[in-house]
Amino acid sequence: MAIRASQIKSPTNVGKDVTIRGWVYRLRRQKENAFVLVRDDRGGVIQCVFPAEKVSGLTIESSVEVTGTVSQDARAPEGGYEIKGKIINVYSTAGTDYPIGEFQSDELLLDKRHLTLRTRKMIAMAKIRATVLELGRRWFVENDWMEVTAPTIVKGAVEGGSTLFKLNYFDEEAYLSQSAQLYLEAMIFSLGPVWSLTPSFRAEKSRTVRHLAEFSHLEAEAPWITLEEILQVQEQLVSYMIQNTIKARAQELAYLKRDTSELKKVVPPFERLPYPQAIETLRSKGFTITQEDGGKREIKLGDDLNIDSERELTKDATKPIFVIGYPISVKPFYVKEDPVHRGVGLAADMLAPAGFGEITSGGLREDDIVSITDRIKNEGLNPASYDWYLDLRRYGSVPHGGFGLGIERLMRWITNADDIKDTVLFPRTMSRVAP
Ligand code: 4AD
Ligand code: MG
Repeated sequence: MAIRASQIKSPTNVGKDVTIRGWVYRLRRQKENAFVLVRDDRGGVIQCVFPAEKVSGLTIESSVEVTGTVSQDARAPEGGYEIKGKIINVYSTAGTDYPIGEFQSDELLLDKRHLTLRTRKMIAMAKIRATVLELGRRWFVENDWMEVTAPTIVKGAVEGGSTLFKLNYFDEEAYLSQSAQLYLEAMIFSLGPVWSLTPSFRAEKSRTVRHLAEFSHLEAEAPWITLEEILQVQEQLVSYMIQNTIKARAQELAYLKRDTSELKKVVPPFERLPYPQAIETLRSKGFTITQEDGGKREIKLGDDLNIDSERELTKDATKPIFVIGYPISVKPFYVKEDPVHRGVGLAADMLAPAGFGEITSGGLREDDIVSITDRIKNEGLNPASYDWYLDLRRYGSVPHGGFGLGIERLMRWITNADDIKDTVLFPRTMSRVAP
């Protein structure tokens, strides 16, 4: 392997000959010399200076190997080091019509995402993403949760039928999984606390800055856990991921112009805001919701929260807020009903501050066979399709619960990205399934 730009930029290398491989990132020709900025395979950039005639046919994004002598020159971009080039081998000369330049529409950048991945913004995003995923895994490993994977081709809905992707599965109908939860619930009986990172799919018919059709879903489930313990796991996990990401990826976050001083404040505990109080706060601000007929009315107890009400609740917050105790009527069939306060679900969502909105949903699961069968029926679902899931309530049911965290939602907050599409390498949305 050739060495990378970052390994070259050190006073001890001055005067030494090095070889670097990469792609032509910028090219500036003067009468005598040409300045070739080479981007290595991790996005590091270093200037290589050649006599102009030596690189006459070179084009942007050609792949090259450069050998030369390291020198220090305050004028050199990217940290004051450059390579006085001696040899340049071109692996492949790129066509002169390379479509990504300095000013492009967002649409073109998405159409050419396979090339956009070479931009500094996407390289920074990819590195932050890798770190976020690594830290999530590390937190679970260090806290004795077992990693599992669940199938993504399934027979039943978890989060409602309206966002299911249908699939021809040999001779029967199947769906793409919306959540691994039901499978994780099966696993806790023999594996204890488990977690998974798998893609989840939602046929979201809305175009918003926080919905993808395919997203990376970090989910966890444990037996004999209380709602408060589930919240503690989430606030510790999210704080750990954020505090370590801002340390490990300070450079990339700075490149994205993310002010991390706000993120430094994200440490446990997070506020617990009872749902009725959330509604009361919104009402006191005169918050209205749009009805199906287009008319507006004041928000009231029983309404679900949406992107706008979540923004209103969190716009001045510096830390996430848990909204707890949503009505079971706005939550899926599996949410456990509070035995004391009927109609109240033992469930909570974590809302990220500054308007980023929901990043996790979780809570206790209905563990009683009669109640859950009723809830499945009430949601218009067929209990027969959930027979295996009901077995978990028939044979040694235990109180249990867990949560799901959307990696791209978390990434959007950490990077302060306008659009969730920016946080994933190849986004899938209602209007985009290629490249
Ligand atoms: O709130 P959701 O739908 O909850 C579940 O799926 C539970 N079964 C999870 C569990 O308890 N194991 O999804 C969980 C999280 C959301 O809070 C959000 O962060 C993310 O997944 N999410 C999406 N992210 C991007 N695009 C979408 N369309 C998303 N839908 C959910
Ligand atoms: Mg949710």
